[in-house]
Amino acid sequence: MNINALRPLDGVGKKLFVETYGCQMNVGDTEIVISILQQEGYRYTERIEEADVILINTCSVRDNAEQRIWGRLADLRRFRKAKPSLRVGIIGCMAERLKERLTEGRDAVEIVAGPDAYRDLPRLLREAESGGRGVNTLLSQEETYAEIAPVRLDRNGVSGFIAIMRGCNNYCSYCVVPYTRGIERSRDPETILGEARELLANGYREVTLLGQNVNSYRFGEVDFPELMRRVADISPLLRVRFATSHPKDISDRLLEVMAAKPNICRAIHLPAQSGSTSMLGRMNRKYTREWYLERVAAIRRYLPDCAVTTDLIAGFSGETDEEHRDTLSLMREVGYEFAYMFKYSERPGTFASKHLPDDVPDEVKAARLQEIIELQNELSLASNRRDVGREFEVLVEGTSRKRKEQLFGRNSQNKVIVFDASDDVKVGDYLRVRVTDCTPATLLGVRI
Ligand code: 5AD
Ligand code: SF4
Repeated sequence: MNINALRPLDGVGKKLFVETYGCQMNVGDTEIVISILQQEGYRYTERIEEADVILINTCSVRDNAEQRIWGRLADLRRFRKAKPSLRVGIIGCMAERLKERLTEGRDAVEIVAGPDAYRDLPRLLREAESGGRGVNTLLSQEETYAEIAPVRLDRNGVSGFIAIMRGCNNYCSYCVVPYTRGIERSRDPETILGEARELLANGYREVTLLGQNVNSYRFGEVDFPELMRRVADISPLLRVRFATSHPKDISDRLLEVMAAKPNICRAIHLPAQSGSTSMLGRMNRKYTREWYLERVAAIRRYLPDCAVTTDLIAGFSGETDEEHRDTLSLMREVGYEFAYMFKYSERPGTFASKHLPDDVPDEVKAARLQEIIELQNELSLASNRRDVGREFEVLVEGTSRKRKEQLFGRNSQNKVIVFDASDDVKVGDYLRVRVTDCTPATLLGVRI
């Protein structure tokens, strides 16, 4: 007999609110957390005022991400005052990094759960409900939450994310992720395929496979190119995307699979971080500028119409003017469609925090970041201008935020295209659209 069946659900009727910060992995984790707690009788609410339990799923990747969370905890004081029975928890990367320290001080929380401790949340909540503190920040070598069906919070019901692996083994010298999310492990491909099929059956038309470095996915005989092939074979109606690729590992075999499958989207996020080989060495990225450019050339060979996007960090340890200029010249050489751009933020516990001084003055970091942003704006606009006059297949995702009588969707390259709504077009449809105009951020088009 199942002992659990005899135990009444602890959270019956209690309302749970979860707020999510940081990357797409965190969004997926929140969906797993809600699924686990619904099993326990908690009801998910989107209204924080009525919550009995508030969980904040946090990010530690830069200091400003953590500062926002501290600010949020201070905001929550008024909710706690209004409802003394309210329980607040910090989960995710910041929970992992700060552990018990989060249960101390003015904004002490009652629940702390690291990214591998979510199955233990029912117990941690019980501890908290009975006046104690529930803390679990153990990292695991195996946990992938493989069989837990996430509760989908996606806004549009068309495009969903599937985590295919967890953790990271790369140890880039600036990055806290290997410490907060633990070692890399891959999820059973059967559960990934099952989740993708189920999304398709529920009306979804696009899945994005997620991991810190999807190219090192491996489960038994199945590596990432093989996984992509199997997901792409589910249905020609299902678009497949993936993120993120480490440039050291992106293989020709993956590019071959992509070239052979039109429903694998022509968009690769390939974080360069820097365009300078000496800087890449200090960052422990394990590739050179030349290697990176060769990989981009390979992408263009196999997939001439593929968008390439990136992440860049300004002002990492010891960055010289010349190294900074190498980043600008790499950007020009690749002609990125889009980039996420950051000022270096030292993270306690990383290799850099111990051995590589954070010695670029903040004004210099800010000025370099500004230059990078301005250049990227030029490149994005130039890339959009090249698309004017071209035709694309667009997956319709929703109504335009600015104008109700317009719809928007994305092309295979992941660019947003806005066009006039009409009665016969609905969210989830594929349409052919010709681009007629553009802004730096969007393409404008007409149906054909
Ligand atoms: N400071 C600034 N940016 C960082 N990133 C990771 N760690 C740091 C840090 N310490 C950026 C990288 C990474 C993205 C997710 O965040 O560009 O690709
Ligand atoms: Fe995601 Fe990294 Fe932030 Fe953790 S630290 S939430 S892995 S971006």
